[in-house]
Amino acid sequence: MPLEKIVIHERKCLRGEVTLPGDKSISHRAIIFSALSSGTVIVSGLSSGEDNRRTAKMFELMGVTIKKKGPSDCVIQGRGLHGLKEPQAVLYAGNSGTTMRLMAGVLSGQPFFSVMSGDDSLNARPMQRVVAPLRLMGAQIQGRDDGSYAPLAIKGGNLCAEDFAIPVASAQVKSALLLAGFYAQGTTVVREPVKSRDHTERMLQFLGVPVVVNGTEVSISGGAEIKPGHIAIPGDISSAAFFIVAGLLAKDSAIVLRGVGVNPTRTGIIDILQNMGADIVMVNMREISGEPVADIEVRTSRLKGIAIGGAIIPRLIDELPVIAVAAAFAEGTTVIRDASELRVKESDRIAALCAELKKLGAHVEEREDGMVIQGREQLSGAVCTSHGDHRVAMSLAVAGLGARGETVVEDCACIKTSFPQFMEKLKSIMQ
Ligand code: S3P
Repeated sequence: MPLEKIVIHERKCLRGEVTLPGDKSISHRAIIFSALSSGTVIVSGLSSGEDNRRTAKMFELMGVTIKKKGPSDCVIQGRGLHGLKEPQAVLYAGNSGTTMRLMAGVLSGQPFFSVMSGDDSLNARPMQRVVAPLRLMGAQIQGRDDGSYAPLAIKGGNLCAEDFAIPVASAQVKSALLLAGFYAQGTTVVREPVKSRDHTERMLQFLGVPVVVNGTEVSISGGAEIKPGHIAIPGDISSAAFFIVAGLLAKDSAIVLRGVGVNPTRTGIIDILQNMGADIVMVNMREISGEPVADIEVRTSRLKGIAIGGAIIPRLIDELPVIAVAAAFAEGTTVIRDASELRVKESDRIAALCAELKKLGAHVEEREDGMVIQGREQLSGAVCTSHGDHRVAMSLAVAGLGARGETVVEDCACIKTSFPQFMEKLKSIMQ
C-alpha cells in the first residue's frame, strides 16, 4: 500500500504493546556477513525495509542465493570471501547510505568491476569519506567530482592494510574499512574520535572472526574466515524512538515496546529523554546474537528542555529528528549542537526540521550544527512535508499526535525505506 500522505489528529491516549521490526543497521550487517560467510546462515528478525532489501539484492546480483522463510526470516547461502561474481548490472542502493558505504568496502576487495548508484538523495551525499581511505588501501574508485559522489565505479583487489584515524565518528566508514580489511594484506586499524555504533564488531565476534576492539580503536587482519551460524536481529531502537516520543507526548499513555536492541552505542535517546524527565524503564534485559535487548516501558511525561551536544551525538544521531519534536513540546529551551552530520543525511535534517516544525507553530532557530528550540505546551496542526526523508516523515507524524487539530504530512512513501509497518503499528495502540 503506497503511503504517500499521513493525516493525523491529536491523540489523548496510546496504550498497548508494539514489537518493532529488526534493526536496520544490524540487518545490513547480517546480510553482508552471511553472504561472505563460508556456509549457510539463517537470519531471523530481518527488517523488511527497502534499504535492507537493496543490500540483499546487490549480493543476489553477485551470485548469492537468499531464500525468504517467512516475513522476517531468510536463509543466506554464503559464498565465502572470494566467491562473489562480477555483477552484470548496476548495483542500485536506492536511498540507503549504509548500503552504498559498506558495499564500497566489500567491492574494494573484489578483483572485478562494479558500479553502484542510488536515488537523487543518495547520489548527493558525500562518498569521499569512504572513497579516499579505500583508494589508499589500493582500490580504484571513480565517481563524480573525483569520487565525491555516486555513481561510483570500483575495481578492487590487491589491497594493503592501513592504519586510519577517521576525523568524524562514523560506523559506516569504520565498517567499510573493516570490510575491505578482510581482503587486505596485514592488519587494518580504524581509530575514531568517539565510538560510533559497534554492530559490525559485535557481529564479527559473534561469528568467530578475531576482530580486536580497544576503546575507540578496532583492528582486523586480512583473510579471516566468517563462519556460518544463526543470527537473530533485535528490534530497531531507531524505529522504537517514534513510539517512545509518541507515548511521552500523548496524554494518559502507557506503552510497552518488546525486544528492542539497547546497544549502548545507540541508547543516547533514552539517556537524553530520561534527563528531560521522561518516564522510560528498560526491563527484561537479555542478549541475542551478541547484542543487548530489552523491553521498554513508556508513560506520558512532562518534559523539560536540555542541552544536547558532544560525545553523545553519535549515540543518538538518527533520533535527533524525533528528539527535536519532543523538545518542541517540552518546558524551556533545548539546544542541539555538534550535529552538523544531520545536514548530510537522507535530507538536510536541520533545515527540514526547522522549516516543518515552524509550520506547526514551534519556536525553532536554525544553527549551522544544530538548532535551538523553545518548547511550547501546544502546537497546531498544519500541512507539512517529509522532504523525502523517512525519519522526518515519522517525526512529523509524532508531532501531529501532540498538535491541536489535524496534521498532514506529505511525501511519506519514503517511510518504507526503514519502517513500512509504521502507521499500522501506530494505529494498533491508538485508543
Ligand atoms: C549507520 C551509521 C550512521 C547512521 C546511519 C546508519 C550504520 O551513519 O546515521 O543511519 O548502520 O552504520 P554514519 O556512519 O554516517 O554516522
